[in-house]
Amino acid sequence: MERRKEWYDHPEYYEAIFGTDTVREADFLQALSQRYGTGGKQWLEPACGAGRLVEEAARRGLRVAGYDLSEAMLAHARKRLTPAERRRVKLSQARMEDFFDPALEGRVDLAHTLVSTFRYLDSEKATVEHLVGTRRLLKPDGIYVLGFHLTDYTRSAPEHERWVGQVGPDKVVCNTHEGLPQKRLRRSPMRNRLRVTGPDKDWLIETTWFFRTHDEAQVKRMFRKAGLRVAATFTFDYDLEAPVERGSNRLDRVFVLKPDASSTA
Ligand SMILES: C[S@@+](CC[C@H](N)C(=O)[O-])C[C@H]1O[C@@H](n2cnc3c(N)ncnc32)[C@H](O)[C@@H]1O
Repeated sequence: MERRKEWYDHPEYYEAIFGTDTVREADFLQALSQRYGTGGKQWLEPACGAGRLVEEAARRGLRVAGYDLSEAMLAHARKRLTPAERRRVKLSQARMEDFFDPALEGRVDLAHTLVSTFRYLDSEKATVEHLVGTRRLLKPDGIYVLGFHLTDYTRSAPEHERWVGQVGPDKVVCNTHEGLPQKRLRRSPMRNRLRVTGPDKDWLIETTWFFRTHDEAQVKRMFRKAGLRVAATFTFDYDLEAPVERGSNRLDRVFVLKPDASSTA
């Protein structure tokens, strides 16, 4: 077995696991844009990764700006686009903490960051800077859709998820562990193991990192601080007719955020 470290250096295997919900997610984002936003055509995806949602949006005739830290993920994103889609897409290497494009200022109809990617922002400062920076790019009626898991600090057991995918002849098994939250440090230890086996492959790609933790009160305070208000909240069921009720104990949340016109942030 060959050991490798960084799963984002292997976009094809990442996508085999996380690319399966793409059409449903894009449908949901479009529906949110119609109901809560402008319904307009300029989208932005911070940390767009290997471009599954960039491609899907471009295929639907939308204009998309996407950026990511990983050049390997961006290269995969560029490769997958047809020439016509490429004309509607602008990809760049940048960080969520400080991305800014003057050509997009006040022009974005919908920005989105799903699948807990937001939790890579590892401090209050980085998180608020990202939110303020993204708000600055939105139209006054635009929306920022953020999907991630809230943290239950009383949790007493680690969490584990397992998925299986296929890339050509290669089988991919993905195991993700989230360790116990460290409340004072505002972080959870994460470990992802991708086991790839095929006719001439036997790889274990093991990646470890920390995800920032947020409970409901912490997240709401932070949105306010960044000059964003919550227009609606859903779950990873992506069901527009099933918003999260007040007091719900579901931790998988999709926040629909709008610039708060009265904020001075
Ligand atoms: C879970 S993937 C999500 C990719 C894509 N948004 C999707 O839904 O398929 C997380 C991505 O975040 C990127 N990333 C992590 N930290 C980042 C940061 N500080 N700034 C920009 N990108 C970052 C990684 O390179 C990776 O491509």
